[in-house]
Amino acid sequence: MKILQVAAEMAPFAKVGGLADMTGSLPKAWTAGNHSVLPVLPLYGNIDRAKYGIEQTDMMITVPYGTWTEYATVFKGKIPGTSVDTYFLRSADYFDRPGIYGYHEGFVDNDRRFIFLCRAAFELARALNFKPDIIHGHDYHTAPLMPMLSVHYRSDPFFEHTASVYTIHNMAYQGVYDPQRAMEFCGFPPQDFFPGSWFEHNGAFNAMKAGIMFADKVTTVSPSYAEEIRWTEEGFGMQPVLQQRTTDLIGVLNGIDLHSWSPEVDADIAVPYNHSTLEKKTVDKRALLLLSGLSLAKAAEPIPLLGMVSRLTEQKGISLVADVIESFINSKRLRLIILGSGEKYFEDYFRGLAQRYPEYAFVGIGYSEPFSHRIQAGSDFLLMPSKFEPCGLTQMFAMSYGTVPIVRAIGGLNDTVQDFDTQNLAGTGIKFREFLADDLRNAIERALSLFQQEPAWTQIRRNAMEQDFSIERTAKQYAEVFNWAREKHQ
Ligand code: ADP
Ligand code: GLC
Repeated sequence: MKILQVAAEMAPFAKVGGLADMTGSLPKAWTAGNHSVLPVLPLYGNIDRAKYGIEQTDMMITVPYGTWTEYATVFKGKIPGTSVDTYFLRSADYFDRPGIYGYHEGFVDNDRRFIFLCRAAFELARALNFKPDIIHGHDYHTAPLMPMLSVHYRSDPFFEHTASVYTIHNMAYQGVYDPQRAMEFCGFPPQDFFPGSWFEHNGAFNAMKAGIMFADKVTTVSPSYAEEIRWTEEGFGMQPVLQQRTTDLIGVLNGIDLHSWSPEVDADIAVPYNHSTLEKKTVDKRALLLLSGLSLAKAAEPIPLLGMVSRLTEQKGISLVADVIESFINSKRLRLIILGSGEKYFEDYFRGLAQRYPEYAFVGIGYSEPFSHRIQAGSDFLLMPSKFEPCGLTQMFAMSYGTVPIVRAIGGLNDTVQDFDTQNLAGTGIKFREFLADDLRNAIERALSLFQQEPAWTQIRRNAMEQDFSIERTAKQYAEVFNWAREKHQ
């Protein structure tokens, strides 16, 4: 099968969160499964071309845009360690600047930038003579691919048999655009925007809604989230729209790339270990404590280390952490390491916490791939008390490293973590249900006592490491959805 993948992020080239992990690892798995993938990404100004060997081709594509024509030059590079060619679109007007979305508020022309990416992707496929069986768009940024296929390209014999699949990674961001601008950039007749049309939601152009309505199949990143967005406020107003597509909406659980996220092969961590050499994990813990300046002298204290690697936003339950964590640190019952960035209020809170308890709390504000691996290897627990969580990858990374996740039972966290049962020693993590400080406090109490109990403590970590969250399983499920989508266009 030929898959055209278009997204705003793709690891390792341009990453903000889990979307990039998925779009970076799926093409590898599909290629290994004998599919042919064409991943397309903007050439953002801060993509490290030299590091990834990204080079300019002699292609320049012409992109019909609104009532005029624009251009993009085409660059090419391989996903590191693979033979998968990735194509990058360079446009001085839209992508040359540093940043993917624009920090904090977002760039004011994001509508124009991402609609351009969608239109250009079709033109690139044609220029490369890559006749896609599937166009796979991700999140609101590339949702306009779905109506573009129906309106502009379906009548073109080149795309006659192309089916479309739209994957929702996060319902909270929908691409709410000015209708006049968006319809014009997409090249759609303005009269097709009216109350109740497939482009309209609350009076605005809504890229997410258009993606959902026009796609042949809609997927989201876990079965639980597929339910929640239809029937609860997690749908962020899209519940009725998703209910209309109920029979075409499928939850495909994310997976992780075990070539990058396994303690056996991870080059960033102090000492490799596996399921049967779990005792070596304490060396990684000591190395992490040393690296982050938490008192090494006291590291032998039998208290657990809790890690977090996260965007610091309300979604991730950061306010709940802020409500409960200080009393545990103040009484020296645990250590905490956080790596993340996001809302200023949360960044300031955690900076203050680390200043008050320099031996017990370390907070790294920023982004570091190697440090995130060391936190996964060196922590005893990973804290992820999300308010909502479409899937979440960090809890899966944690389990792969024998680091026990403490999670709220929601979305993909609910689907990937089984609550530990001390009676029969089954389960892979600690779960709590309500988004309440008391519930998180109780969950941390359970974690502290589990940490002291053998054989339960060893067993839960072994159970976690035995889970199979491989991206290959996810890639196969997508291929099934793709085949199902194609039935309509054979
Ligand atoms: P989301 O996509 O909602 O942010 P996920 O758990 O799906 O949540 O994915 C987050 C991804 O981003 C993981 O790969 C995680 O390791 C990474 N990540 C988040 N914050 C940082 C950071 N500050 N430094 C390095 N990696 C980070
Ligand atoms: C989104 C979600 C996260 C998910 C990721 C990859 O960013 O917030 O839960 O794991 O996309 O699908």
